[in-house]
Amino acid sequence: MKVIVSDKISSSDALFIFVPEKKWDKKIFGKFLPTVLEKQIANSFSQKDLKGELGEIIQLFPSISGQKKTFLIGTGKGEYLREQRRAGGAAIRKAKKLKIAKVQFLLPNNLDVRRIISGAILGNYEFKIGDKKEHFSPTSLQIICQDKITAKEVNAEKDLAEATNFARDLINLPANLLTPKVLSNKAKEVGKGVGNKVKVKIYGEKELKKLKMDSFFGVGQGSHEESQLIVLEYNGGKKNEKPLVLIGKGVCFDAGGYNLKPTNHIEEMKSDMSGAASVLGAFQWIAKQNPKKNIMGVIGAVENLVSGQAFKPGDVLNSMGGKTIEITNTDAEGRLVLADCLYYAAKKYKPALMIDLATLTGAAIAALGYEITALLGNDKKMMSKVIKAAEEADEDVWELPITPHFKEKTKGEISDLLNWTAGVSAGSSMAAAFLDHFVDNTPWVHMDIAGTAFHSKYGDEITQKGATGVMVRTLKNIIAE
Ligand code: BES
Ligand code: MN
Ligand code: ZN
Repeated sequence: MKVIVSDKISSSDALFIFVPEKKWDKKIFGKFLPTVLEKQIANSFSQKDLKGELGEIIQLFPSISGQKKTFLIGTGKGEYLREQRRAGGAAIRKAKKLKIAKVQFLLPNNLDVRRIISGAILGNYEFKIGDKKEHFSPTSLQIICQDKITAKEVNAEKDLAEATNFARDLINLPANLLTPKVLSNKAKEVGKGVGNKVKVKIYGEKELKKLKMDSFFGVGQGSHEESQLIVLEYNGGKKNEKPLVLIGKGVCFDAGGYNLKPTNHIEEMKSDMSGAASVLGAFQWIAKQNPKKNIMGVIGAVENLVSGQAFKPGDVLNSMGGKTIEITNTDAEGRLVLADCLYYAAKKYKPALMIDLATLTGAAIAALGYEITALLGNDKKMMSKVIKAAEEADEDVWELPITPHFKEKTKGEISDLLNWTAGVSAGSSMAAAFLDHFVDNTPWVHMDIAGTAFHSKYGDEITQKGATGVMVRTLKNIIAE
């Protein structure tokens, strides 16, 4: 879908006029509202045909706007800026449903055109496979508004929403179609993207062994699919500038291992690579937008399955940093993968900041639900920076603690660490406390996206049921600050 913003109305198949849930006032449209429409819209309000509630849509008959069809779309009371994305999504979905090719939006002065662009592209997203793949997408969206925005800024916003949709695609793909190898090939494609500016290196199991990543390797032992360490390097900043490193949990399927997941828990586990997907989404944006920063990516791609080769409860694994880990629960596999990835990133890149993203604990869902990402880390200043970036991205985050008590409780008797400790609860804090042993003193923020990455029960105007692509926008804000 092509997107252009202009201050001239041209011909389209349908005009959507965005109206707030307030007393009708034509002034909010400046000079753009065709005079012939004023009365028709005022009538719609006075006849109570619509109130202007968020997502409410009515068609105006006859269409006297000069366009083939004319709609009013409600944007709500305007309490929350993020609702604007949903209005953009609702309008584009209506256009999709009616198979309208050339769409035009007319925005009042209280709407942020960036959020509308974002909402339209996110709302246009649909994931389908095989014969169901064909779906209608409008070919062009022209937005008429009073905001000043350059074509370059429009493209940046569009690239960002498309990067989010790219992450969604990776997550929605079932595990038989998105193996660790396929994920590493997707990473290579991202690298080739525009101008080949992101270097992508893939390491297989032989190299994992050589690097002494026994913890990561252990998780993948039970699968025929080869584990992959994916490393992305983008140098857009000064030569000696310390990089930002993004680290993603890429468990392409998490059966739980011998601590097998039960029914109602195992079905969605194709989404256990959502952290990796958000990292690749961010890199797709980086490849297109070329920010002036050094940014690295490290992804541990693996399957956690059951077989004669699989790791077992009671096994003791080494790790790249030399700490030994007793496997008390094979389903606490994400932290084992991340332990080696974090250690590798800290040692290799000496990052200014490293951020890991992982669908790590069901406890994050118990604590914060499906809309709030849990944030944990070791650096107050970096934490506030990330919180601010998330706020500006309309993504909710909330901090959970890592205390000396939790760290103490991760210690083992026959090994340095346990990957799970009975009787402590606070699962998200305990997982992060475990990771903290592999971070040293590198500034580090951990995002537990177990609840926010995949919505199996509901969707909304900008998010189809399934993958959400959470945190791509937040990462972009951290990158572009
Ligand atoms: N991938 C899961 C966490 C998860 C749960 C993600 C629900 C998305 C939705 C993770 O590997 C896991 O199994 N965690 C266990 C840890 C426990 C065994 C200490 C959990 O949270 O139950
Ligand atoms: Mn698990
Ligand atoms: Zn997992």
